[in-house]
Amino acid sequence: MNILSPSILAADCARLGEQIDLVRRAGAGYLHIDIMDGMFVPAISFGMCVVSSLRKATDMVFDVHLMVEDPIRYVDEFAAGGADIITVHLEACRDVGQTLDRIRSLGKRVGLSIKPATPVSEAAPYLDRIDMLLVMTVEPGFGGQKYIRASTGRIREARRLIEDRGLDVDVEVDGGITKDNLREVLEAGANVIVAGSAVFSGDISQNVQRMTELIQS
Ligand code: DX5
Ligand code: ZN
Repeated sequence: MNILSPSILAADCARLGEQIDLVRRAGAGYLHIDIMDGMFVPAISFGMCVVSSLRKATDMVFDVHLMVEDPIRYVDEFAAGGADIITVHLEACRDVGQTLDRIRSLGKRVGLSIKPATPVSEAAPYLDRIDMLLVMTVEPGFGGQKYIRASTGRIREARRLIEDRGLDVDVEVDGGITKDNLREVLEAGANVIVAGSAVFSGDISQNVQRMTELIQS
């Protein structure tokens, strides 16, 4: 199934509840929540209380993207706070397998992410223990960047690896996705589409409706 996951990094934080309601009503499936620690990436974004407060305000699926060094330290807290999918970066884990197993043991869906410079093959050993592979399509850390064209081949490679092994793993893309390159990433094999600025600038409901139509067509 193809799903749109609006990234609240681009939302107006003073009107977060209202804007989340708009994306839900317009048909978005997931809500992408970027957690940045100022170490794995230079910026600092949301903390735990944002996730737990939002959890009380909506029943959307929380797609939590941890851009955090040694993320196993925090997965229990995010699970308890209401995350549904917890994605960690392969490059940030001291022990990737142990981190993924910890997320699984908490009853959450398991995501693994790779930065643009990390070979897709490095994720191969973990494909049978994850639910989603996040192929970053910009350097993680900031919203509003331009899609890296070389990502298209990486998405294709990820999808091929998953299919060759007969696995049921989602391929998520994150960074620089707009109405104009949506078709390209879908055709390459992505099925969970993160979009920040393309959703939250201008008319939010209309952006979600248009992107959802394209994703489902
Ligand atoms: C970047 C974040 C993204 C970001 C995407 O490090 O992981 O989720 O919000 O923003 P856009 O869609 O504006 O590139
Ligand atoms: Zn993200």
